[in-house]
Amino acid sequence: MQSSVLPGVPTTTFVFNLLTLTLSLLPLPSLPLSLCRTSCGSIPVSYPFAVDDGCGSPSFRRMLSCNASDLFFATPSGDYKVQSIDYAKRKVVVFDPAMSTCSVLQPHHDFALTDVQAALIPPSDDTLFAVLNCSVDSPVANHFKYLCSPDVGGHSCAEMYSACASFRIFRPAAPQGQGGNLSLPSPSPSTSASPPCCFTRYATVRFMSMNMLDCTHYTTVIDSGGLEKAGPLDWTYGIELTYAVPESTACDRCKRSGGACGFDAESEAMLCLCSPTLNATVECAAGTGTGSGQKLAPTMSYHATLLIILTSIVYTNLV
Ligand SMILES: *[C@@H]1O[C@H](CO)[C@@H](O)[C@H](O)[C@H]1NC(C)=O
Ligand SMILES: *[C@@H]1O[C@H](CO)[C@@H](O)[C@H](O)[C@H]1NC(C)=O
Ligand SMILES: *[C@@H]1O[C@H](CO)[C@@H](O)[C@H](O)[C@H]1NC(C)=O
Ligand SMILES: *[C@@H]1O[C@H](CO)[C@@H](O)[C@H](O)[C@H]1NC(C)=O
Repeated sequence: MQSSVLPGVPTTTFVFNLLTLTLSLLPLPSLPLSLCRTSCGSIPVSYPFAVDDGCGSPSFRRMLSCNASDLFFATPSGDYKVQSIDYAKRKVVVFDPAMSTCSVLQPHHDFALTDVQAALIPPSDDTLFAVLNCSVDSPVANHFKYLCSPDVGGHSCAEMYSACASFRIFRPAAPQGQGGNLSLPSPSPSTSASPPCCFTRYATVRFMSMNMLDCTHYTTVIDSGGLEKAGPLDWTYGIELTYAVPESTACDRCKRSGGACGFDAESEAMLCLCSPTLNATVECAAGTGTGSGQKLAPTMSYHATLLIILTSIVYTNLV
């Protein structure tokens, strides 16, 4: 093939136009910064969290996992689906698919966190644990009654037992064969009163397992300020966790240089992940400047590399 394709158009201009066209047609790389995925399904994943080992903060290592469509928070008591992460308020909302709610009755299991999780990412004070159908000998019906609130926002256990289809089974037994006629007063409260239940906080279920509490079911409700206005049918069921971001000036420096904070999988020493092929100990060499805009640098260097590769391919074909 001869050097000039179109008469009168210099080869360099042609190549440049061809490359510009090619580059504008290419999709932007989805992971220009590092090997770390930045989202899972619809949920953004960023520092201190990560779904790839070696990314994020080592303190939160292996806490989150992604199965391609859903993000999960892994605990000793199971994997809870992450519903949202609010990075500004530092809150994560998770849902236990195996717990009871107003519409589903499922046998209890413990909500257990590792000691690290209990310290770094415990349920917030807005998370209420309701333990239901406790025995009359339950600690929360006796010595530890003070750990329970008799109601939340004016809503009692009895209301949960009657408003929620799933919990109606815990109401005092109606006379059999009467079609559930409940207007008869109970002649003997000791045998037909509602079984004890308790609205409490994480600290209670942290130190007392469901077996110790002697309650057969539990549910969790997030009180974001409107519990009194709505009844149990309209509450938000789930667990709101609150976390602290580990202070790290090294991580701040890394981010300013355009990198993502990660760590060495063996030593857990901090690494600054600059690109899929380059890790630095503190900051990415290319981004030694200060101020904003360094995020562009990796994308530009990606394009520059592509440009060089494409240029050489086009030249080889043209010359
Ligand atoms: C950089 O660090 C990440 C996270 O530890 C690791 O997965 C990756 O293999 C490292 N890359 C290089 C080039 O060392
Ligand atoms: C991810 O897990 C959820 C819940 O277990 C499941 O419904 C979904 O199908 C899984 N997605 C994939 C891609 O495996
Ligand atoms: C409620 O608790 C009692 C024991 O206190 C248990 O025998 C009963 O099966 C429980 N009810 C349900 C519906 O699980
Ligand atoms: C329910 O009990 C009340 C009081 O004994 C009675 O008047 C009423 O007819 C009963 N209703 C049904 C549906 O059995």
